[in-house]
Amino acid sequence: MTRTPVAILGATGAVGQKFVALLADHPWFEIVQLVASATRDGRCYGDEVRWREPTSLPDAIAQIRLTTIAPNPEVQIAFSALDASIAHDVEPAWAEAGVMVVSNASAYRMADDVPLIVPEINPDHLALLDRQRAGRMWRGGIVANPNCSTAVLVTALAPLHRAFGLQRAAIATLQAASGAGYPGVPSLDLLGNVIPYIGGEEEKIERELTKILGTYSDARIVPAEILASAMVHRVPVVDGHMVSGSLAFAEAPSPEAAMATLRAFRGSELVQGLPSSPRTPVEVDERADRPQTRLDVDRGQGMTVTVGRVRACPLHDLRFVALGHNLVRGAAGAAIQNAELIRASGALEG
Ligand SMILES: NC(=O)c1ccc[n+]([C@@H]2O[C@H](COP(=O)([O-])OP(=O)(O)OC[C@H]3O[C@@H](n4cnc5c(N)ncnc54)[C@H](OP(=O)(O)O)[C@@H]3O)[C@@H](O)[C@H]2O)c1
Repeated sequence: MTRTPVAILGATGAVGQKFVALLADHPWFEIVQLVASATRDGRCYGDEVRWREPTSLPDAIAQIRLTTIAPNPEVQIAFSALDASIAHDVEPAWAEAGVMVVSNASAYRMADDVPLIVPEINPDHLALLDRQRAGRMWRGGIVANPNCSTAVLVTALAPLHRAFGLQRAAIATLQAASGAGYPGVPSLDLLGNVIPYIGGEEEKIERELTKILGTYSDARIVPAEILASAMVHRVPVVDGHMVSGSLAFAEAPSPEAAMATLRAFRGSELVQGLPSSPRTPVEVDERADRPQTRLDVDRGQGMTVTVGRVRACPLHDLRFVALGHNLVRGAAGAAIQNAELIRASGALEG
């Protein structure tokens, strides 16, 4: 099988570095281009990056010379780890040049013709690509993955929604420092502290959830009718977003039925066979004090969401807590799994 040549846009940032680490030995994809700010143009990646991954940076990648953001039709996939303000103009330019842009940025997540995908949940939404390509006259395209806290939350909620009809969700998050990029929140603002504000995050969770859990029909997504209220907090942990909440359903499940549904959750056969798919997208841990960020964040190489504390709720029907790796399930791992789905579905080029 020939490996698909890929670029990483924003390769020096927190998500960009995770892309490099996860793609270094990828069976289907080969990193051929790394992009950062124009001031670094032509410099070796290894000299410019402040490498914060626990694995060592392979020599061959360290020697790749950084380029500017100009579209490069020689690559088939561009993984975007750019700030949304930059992604807004850059991603369409790459898609127009014939490249499949697989994006972490929020710029196009809610666009009507852009698939917002979690492979275990809504791979059928990829069909929006046909409309996108026809409408925008692109050979390439843009496919997005959700915001990091949404990714963790929706992986836990999707099987419950399908089985019991989720109607309302009151959600509180505890989000890691690496969710703000690198160097991110100043240490003097975050150490020994909790900050109850992350700009735009609550709105993203509330909106993206309904699109991902929505239904594909007549080349559009009909959003799920779920009323969500999100309250977000930045906490002094390095990696891992925790999300806890109270849920109301059309048919209230017992905690036991909810846990059995979560444990049985699997993607399609195609999705289960993708190189980045974890053995199980959700693990349920019934120990009273789990999941814990430091102990459980790396389950399934960071692609498994751990759910715990599933119990009855005096306000709604059920309470729960979910934990996932914001840079893997919530960012680079999610985008790589999306790119694998796109390639395996034969949708790389229009
Ligand atoms: N961190 C997370 O957990 C997470 C999760 C999901 C989604 N996201 C999203 O993913 C994106 C990246 O986040 P991050 O946390 O990795 O941010 P980050 O650490 O601030 O990294 C930003 C990257 O963009 C590059 N860049 C900035 N301006 C550029 C330009 N004009 N041309 C080319 N490259 C440019 C930077 O390169 P230089 O180093 O040269 O400036 C850096 O490589 C954002 O849209 C974010 O919202 C992040």
